[in-house]
Amino acid sequence: MHAALDPHPAPAPPFAAVQALAAADMAAVDALIRRRLASEVVLVNQVAEYIVGAGGKRLRPMLTVLAARAAGYDGEAHHQLAAVVEFIHTATLLHDDVVDGSDLRRGRATANAAFGNAASVLVGDFLYSRAFQLMVELGSMTIQKVLADTTNRIAEGEVLQLLHVRNPDTDEAAYLGVIERKTAVLFAAATQLGGHLAGIGEAGERALSDYGLALGYAFQIADDVLDYTGDASALGKNLGDDLAEGKATLPLIHAMAHSAPAVRARLQQIVRDGDAGAFGEVLAAIEACGSLDYSRAMAERQAATAITALDRLPDSEAWAALAGLAHYALQRVS
Ligand code: IPE
Ligand code: IPE
Ligand code: MG
Ligand code: MG
Repeated sequence: MHAALDPHPAPAPPFAAVQALAAADMAAVDALIRRRLASEVVLVNQVAEYIVGAGGKRLRPMLTVLAARAAGYDGEAHHQLAAVVEFIHTATLLHDDVVDGSDLRRGRATANAAFGNAASVLVGDFLYSRAFQLMVELGSMTIQKVLADTTNRIAEGEVLQLLHVRNPDTDEAAYLGVIERKTAVLFAAATQLGGHLAGIGEAGERALSDYGLALGYAFQIADDVLDYTGDASALGKNLGDDLAEGKATLPLIHAMAHSAPAVRARLQQIVRDGDAGAFGEVLAAIEACGSLDYSRAMAERQAATAITALDRLPDSEAWAALAGLAHYALQRVS
């Protein structure tokens, strides 16, 4: 466990306990998602149902409802806000799997594999715009501004990442710039806006935003480790997708920077080629270089930063659940 992360003597609740605490809220969020997915166009329903019905961890909407609760919220609009966040996330997944050429998502064939690239991109657009319809119904200019800025940053992140594909000179700073945009900012918006709904005030929103941002970094770094070390059936997605695409993530970036010249040159060539067949060789090199441990340590530091930000908020059950999610992000790779 990660005792060093615990700011208080009581251990953070495990993921199952966090899920149990959020269960009633999440059932309401899920019902809303299903209800508001509907379209008159059959193919939209088919593709949207296909990916939404496959589940997923629903981590981001859970962050929204828990942040709202931690901020003392007792209304119901947080369910709709959480649905907006999950719609945005799902839209990015539809687009991301096309761009990454991925075949497996949430334990089933990706929508692009099942329905084709065009349908995936277009239904992704549908989900983005449906998210914005639901967002406008909430009638808050702050929510609209934060989510407009957030989706714009996500789009930048994916384009920035594209610019680095097959580029062996991709460094840690570039990597961090990509993951902040493509992942961390949505986590930050999910938590900040939960607090905003509750009227927590500027300092509280900042604390929740700082927590979400750091958690998002930790989560994406862990996901990038799992792309080398995970179990495809547990993850519901294939390993090695990043390498196959010529995407250098933190473990490989670290190995390229720290291995002997001959190994480095070989790794750089593999990135240039997007050589999926070299997966075993790359894994051996990043293990030999300590790059997985290096990446895990960075994820751990980000999770610790997330928990430190929480210390600016009053303790509660929902607060403890948010701390629990920071541990969960790390448990996936430890
Ligand atoms: C996948 O996110 C994209 C990343 C940021 C790594 P999740 O791992 O939260 O995906 P689902 O929603 O559970 O399928
Ligand atoms: C996550 O990036 C994509 C977005 C959050 C937009 P990845 O490409 O690493 O995610 P997976 O591994 O396909 O889930
Ligand atoms: Mg991907
Ligand atoms: Mg990934």
